[in-house]
Formats: sequence, C-alpha cells, structure tokens
Amino acid sequence: MSETLVVVPLPEPRSDSGTSIEQALESRRSIREFAPGPLTLALMSQLLWAAQGETGAGGARTAPSAGALHPLRLYLVSGDVTGLEPGVYRYDPRRHALHKTADGDRRAEMSIAALQQECVGAAAAIVVIAADDRHTVARYGRRAQRYIDIEVGHAAQNLHLQAVALNLGSVDVGAFDDAEIASALGLPEAERPLLLLPVGRKRKP
Ligand SMILES: Cc1cc2nc3c(=O)[nH]c(=O)nc-3n(C[C@H](O)[C@H](O)[C@H](O)COP(=O)(O)O)c2cc1C
Repeated sequence: MSETLVVVPLPEPRSDSGTSIEQALESRRSIREFAPGPLTLALMSQLLWAAQGETGAGGARTAPSAGALHPLRLYLVSGDVTGLEPGVYRYDPRRHALHKTADGDRRAEMSIAALQQECVGAAAAIVVIAADDRHTVARYGRRAQRYIDIEVGHAAQNLHLQAVALNLGSVDVGAFDDAEIASALGLPEAERPLLLLPVGRKRKP
C-alpha cells in the first residue's frame, strides 16, 4: 500500500455522552438505512476511539486482545465526513490520528464487493476492521484465528454502543468478498478484512 504523508489528528475523545452503558445496550440495533447528512471528524474520532483507542500504559486499548498483541487494524472509509476528504485512512491508536492510505470515494466499490448491500454504499463512512495475524499466529498457532475473531467482536460491539450514545446508526457487514474489499481499500499483503461497519446518521423514528 502506498501510504501518503497526510496525517489527520483527531479531536480528543470525550467521556461524557450522557448515555448510560445500560441505555446503550438496550437501544442497540442494526441500522441499515441512514438519514442524509455528513458525519463530523469528532464523531469519527469517538467511534474509532471506542473500537480501538489507547487507554493505558503499554498501549492498552478499549478492547481486550489476546496476549496484548493487538492484531486489529482499523480503516476509515470516508465518503461524507465534514473536514475529511473522501478516501481511505488507517487509524493510529497511539497518536489518535488518521493516516491517509488512498484517495477517492470507495463506497460504491465496497458496496459491490459486499454483495451489493445498499447500507455499505449509503453510509456516510465505513469503519473496516482488518487484522494482521502474524504475531498472534506466532504465539498461539491454530488458536490464533479464534482469538482474532473474538477481538473483532469486542471492537465492533464497542463501536456499536458508542454509535448509540452518539445517536448514530451502524451495522455489522460480514458478507463480502475478501479479495475485492482488500483491493478496494488497497490493504497491505499481510492484512485481511474481517468486518465492515457502515455508519451514518439515524433516521427519525
Ligand atoms: C458476524 C455478523 C455478520 C453480519 N453480517 C451482516 C451483513 O452482511 N449484512 C447485514 O445487513 N447485517 C449483518 N449482520 C447483522 C445481523 O443481521 C443482525 O445483528 C441481526 O439481524 C440481529 O439484529 P440486531 O443487530 O438489530 O439486534 C451481521 C451480524 C453479525 C454478528
């Protein structure tokens, strides 16, 4: 992947949404249809932090990781985010920043790769959870894939609960062609895409 030198610092994450964890758990639903309107960098900052933000010494994150090896790699596919050009950005938990890895709006291509699912093309942004399994495989062998799949679930649920607290809609999309998504994103050879999380504004009930 040819990573450009564009680094976008993200706004500091907040810790005062006013929504309790119980309210978020009770309200979480898969949302596949979104209201029109852009997301903001502050909203994306909060979602990415919830999924994989650094929260402690030694690189500890919001989600548990087998052996603290942190194999997950998060990408933000920006389509309609105020202050962020359409493109693909890698989330850097240490710096809480985005590194641009590709230009242009990739949502339509990703929707096709996800069996034409409309929610992928219609979302203002898509968070992609990918993984580089090399360290986890080196330590855990055949159990590595199980551990990584569990970690994806942790990160995704964190993001969904944060989305509820921000009054946003989000959904898991696991049905996609791996190679086509990897190509649409320009993922490095060692990384595999494991889950797409389209995000957008919630429609009024
Ligand atoms: C591993 C996994 C893969 C999923 N893949 C898709 C998908 O490709 N497209 C989709 O619309 N929903 C997908 N979903 C969402 C489920 O359809 C949804 O969670 C289920 O219908 C229950 O609804 P709820 O999330 O609103 O409680 C997926 C969920 C999981 C856990």
